[in-house]
Amino acid sequence: MSFVELTRRGDVGVIHIDNPPVNALSTAVREGLIAATKAVAADPSLTCGVITTAGRGFIAGADIREMGRPPEPPILPDVIERLALCPKPLVAALKGAALGGGLEVALACRGRVAATGSTLGFPEVAIGLIPGAGGTQMLLRLVGFADAVRLVAGGRPIAAAEALRLGLIHQTVEGDVLPAAMAFARALAAGEHADLAPSLPTIRARPAAAAPVGDDMERLAAEVRKAGRGRSAPLAALELMSLSPRLDYAKGVAEERSIFVHLRASPEAKALRRLFLAERETGRLPELEGVAPRDVKTVGVVGAGLMGCGIAYAALAAGLPAIVAEGDDAALARGKARMAEVMDGAAGSGRLTADKRSRMEAALTWTTDFRAFATADLVIEAVFEDMAVKHQVFARLDAVVRSDAILASNTSYLDLDAIAAGTADPSRVLGLHFFSPAHVMRLLEVVRGGATAPDVLAGGVAFGKAIGKIPVVTGVCEGFCGNRILKAYRTVAEAMVEDGASPAEVDAAMTDHGFPMGPFAVQDMAGLEIAYANRKLSPALRPDGRKLGLVEMLVEAGRLGRKSGKGWYAYPEGARAPIHDPDVAQLIDVYRVRKEIPQRMFRRASIRDALLAAMRDEGAAILREGIVARPEDIDLVMVHGYGFPAHKGGPMFEG
Ligand code: NAI
Repeated sequence: MSFVELTRRGDVGVIHIDNPPVNALSTAVREGLIAATKAVAADPSLTCGVITTAGRGFIAGADIREMGRPPEPPILPDVIERLALCPKPLVAALKGAALGGGLEVALACRGRVAATGSTLGFPEVAIGLIPGAGGTQMLLRLVGFADAVRLVAGGRPIAAAEALRLGLIHQTVEGDVLPAAMAFARALAAGEHADLAPSLPTIRARPAAAAPVGDDMERLAAEVRKAGRGRSAPLAALELMSLSPRLDYAKGVAEERSIFVHLRASPEAKALRRLFLAERETGRLPELEGVAPRDVKTVGVVGAGLMGCGIAYAALAAGLPAIVAEGDDAALARGKARMAEVMDGAAGSGRLTADKRSRMEAALTWTTDFRAFATADLVIEAVFEDMAVKHQVFARLDAVVRSDAILASNTSYLDLDAIAAGTADPSRVLGLHFFSPAHVMRLLEVVRGGATAPDVLAGGVAFGKAIGKIPVVTGVCEGFCGNRILKAYRTVAEAMVEDGASPAEVDAAMTDHGFPMGPFAVQDMAGLEIAYANRKLSPALRPDGRKLGLVEMLVEAGRLGRKSGKGWYAYPEGARAPIHDPDVAQLIDVYRVRKEIPQRMFRRASIRDALLAAMRDEGAAILREGIVARPEDIDLVMVHGYGFPAHKGGPMFEG
């Protein structure tokens, strides 16, 4: 199979790239592009060329799988040079996504025509990189400095309309883009549009857009730092782009390439690349090979609480009809109000259009009668965390759902096998453990019970993917994968506080490492009573075997966390950020004296190392026990569910 083919349509050479699924710029595609461009240049019957692609998108970027190895020639900068220096005008016919190297290919063409639904961007920072084939330098000669920086350092793609407004593309078209691109190429060949789409040597001779000065630059830099959350690639992009106006085009490209090559070998890029690939691998298990997943088209949700509403929203947003049940009319009314709040929130932040909202509302059925679940392919239970209530709900579901429907529990800590054992057919039961807020958080633990049938498990994974989640398959154990590691992490954190560190010192050690919040601030946000209740059932033991007791002490002193105005920290009226509370320090001192624990001093680095080791050790145990299949799965769980900084790879990443 040839990845790049040249066909002649009259005087237009149509260069067609076909490398499913996303037309990544693999070695074969790079070779093909060079050969096709040479052929267009050499063929006297052709006056111009168009680059077009198979499938739904243009080119989504480099082939990330090739990035771990030394690059094979021809490298992308060579392709870009060949395109840029083609003596006949080339036009990129954009549709779907034109990202990273794909956008560089487009920018190396003289013209860019895009279908209205296309998106364009440089998402390289998401894998720890910056563009490496002239992207920053071309951009700085086509759009203003701040826009160029936002595209590269922010990494977020923009829509075709925005690209047109910025001058990044020359035309947008509804429907089929190829005829319009061919017409544009012919017009360029006839000498038209010289002002709109000047030749590349003209563009390259321009100076790079100048950086703003003073406060404007400060603001832009602060924006980049904030969005970068401790990553080095966005800062490297900003630095390079700030320097660029002092460099000519060739020097700018050389500088960009050297930064790219340096970043590519960095632990940050390795970590992000590994997570990127792991995200695509997750849920693909050898034992599910060839298993046809049970189809999920209509979703039922029992319990319209915090989680139930979020879960139903996620299904509706993905276009699946949802049936939501509550126990009685009053609870149903509260559920409706909660769902309206979730939708208002999404609409307010621009994530939900009025049109989409009305489609979602039309696909949503509210009921107190479980018989409405007769049409559901999957019913997810999200009622109170209480075994008796769960058993009751599943017994009622058994009586009404189709015999091939999947039954799922969103339980966080209860034994899924015990839940399944109370149903008529445990083989159709699995856990679907969502994270709060369920319509936002991408992690989904798909919990495989002892009796779960393979097609049910595969159905859970496929459903997770269909609603845009990252489904990680885990076995049954206390807390499954994520909460079990969280418990180990919190145990060591709390033991260190008993031994002399302050909650704020522990939290700072972790925020320094890149977590958005430390373990104590997180616990205050979630509320201490969950840990308190769990510990009543199974006590938390310090690494030295003694029982931990600070959570008990705080809860019994009425310090439940943020919701009670105080927990590990104080939250005076209206305060968003945790505030150091001398009362807590005193309570801890008294506790330490009472328990005869000698006070020690801890360095931040040793706190961090101890907490990371706690996660890694628990992760290793989880792998040994076969609870999850791959270390990367654990890293996905901790990154997407618990704030572990992605650019540090996760607790199991070894650099
Ligand atoms: P919630 O208290 O906000 O919602 C529970 C809802 O279930 C309430 O609206 C209640 O009226 C309804 N309900 C209770 N019994 C019912 C019955 N027999 N029939 C129909 N509806 C009934 O609780 P939340 O936080 O949404 O938690 C639900 C489940 O999700 C629990 O198992 C919890 O452990 C789990 N979970 C919670 C997370 C969180 O962050 N809150 C995260 C992940 C899982």
